[in-house]
Amino acid sequence: METKDHRVDADTVRDVPEDDLEPLPENRLARVIGRSSRYVALLAAWVATCGSLYMSEALGWIPCLLCWYQRILMYPLALITATGILTNDRRMHRYLLALAVPGMGMSLYHYLYQKSDFVRGLLPSSCVVGVPCSADYLNWLGGVVTIPFLALIAFTVIVLAAVASRLADEPEEETLEAPATSAAGERPLGRVALVLAIIAGVVGAFLVAGNAVAQGQAAARAVMMPVSAATASPALLQKGKAVYESACIGCHGPAGEGVASVRSITNSLLLRTGSDAELIQLVRVGRSANDPHNVSGLAMPAGGGRVGMADEDIIAVITYMRRLAQGSAD
Ligand code: HEC
Repeated sequence: METKDHRVDADTVRDVPEDDLEPLPENRLARVIGRSSRYVALLAAWVATCGSLYMSEALGWIPCLLCWYQRILMYPLALITATGILTNDRRMHRYLLALAVPGMGMSLYHYLYQKSDFVRGLLPSSCVVGVPCSADYLNWLGGVVTIPFLALIAFTVIVLAAVASRLADEPEEETLEAPATSAAGERPLGRVALVLAIIAGVVGAFLVAGNAVAQGQAAARAVMMPVSAATASPALLQKGKAVYESACIGCHGPAGEGVASVRSITNSLLLRTGSDAELIQLVRVGRSANDPHNVSGLAMPAGGGRVGMADEDIIAVITYMRRLAQGSAD
């Protein structure tokens, strides 16, 4: 029994091509690290590239001069990491280092420029046109995390990944392409799928986020639309009247004169001079009796008591009330 088992084992081993033999454990670990580090570099480059485009294109943050230099060094890295992995280029680390090391220097300089008067004084003539390089849109964690800080992390990750992928590679082989078998267990199709999945995931996530921002901005613009009572369309006033009569008339009266102890709004300073934003805010959240701005001691409920009033309804009713306040609703 025992002898037979031995023979089976020997046969199995003989059938397996030599390259698929289990390598020494530390060798295999090095390969796994080396192989995955290229994907780490890919991920870092794509997150940084899409993140910077998200900030400028979706959030509307204008890049400063020093940001542009970092972009020049970062954007090619997104394409080089992808191409390098897809073609299994063993020299990829050289191109990565050629861009990412200066990138680290650039980000570090920019970060110090933001944080230190001394560094800013070294080259006082740089960064004087356009967006100041010393200001930062982000300033997370009490100003520690700024945009160049994030770029520095990305460049550093890419440098470390490039070094790791180089160290994990057998140094004596100088072929441009890795031998197909050295990437044991990693098939070309799997590589393509993984690269595409990472890129699609990162790009998709930032597109979704950018779209959400764009929609929020459109909504904000719609709400901030100037609603001058003088130029309001009859349709808008008609709509405003309908909202007023369904939600506001009970307290403010048919002509804004006020019901019971609610004051007349005909001389409301807020309606005559307040901005759209102030009025929209008041109608949205109401004004409690103990609010410092409350004049009558009576509470004005949010939306006049109507929960979740649509922005268009608020704009219409405000326009109508402005007319009432001017005594010319009809
Ligand atoms: C339950 C009663 C009530 C309803 C319903 C109500 N309000 Fe009011 N509203 C008040 C009271 C009370 C005040 C005065 C608050 C104060 O003294 O500061 C007020 C104040 C206001 C003011 C500001 C006047 C100023 O100069 O400070 C506006 C504008 C206003 N209401 C709009 C509306 C609109 C629009 C609606 C309908 C969507 C509405 N209100 C429905 C009770 C009401």
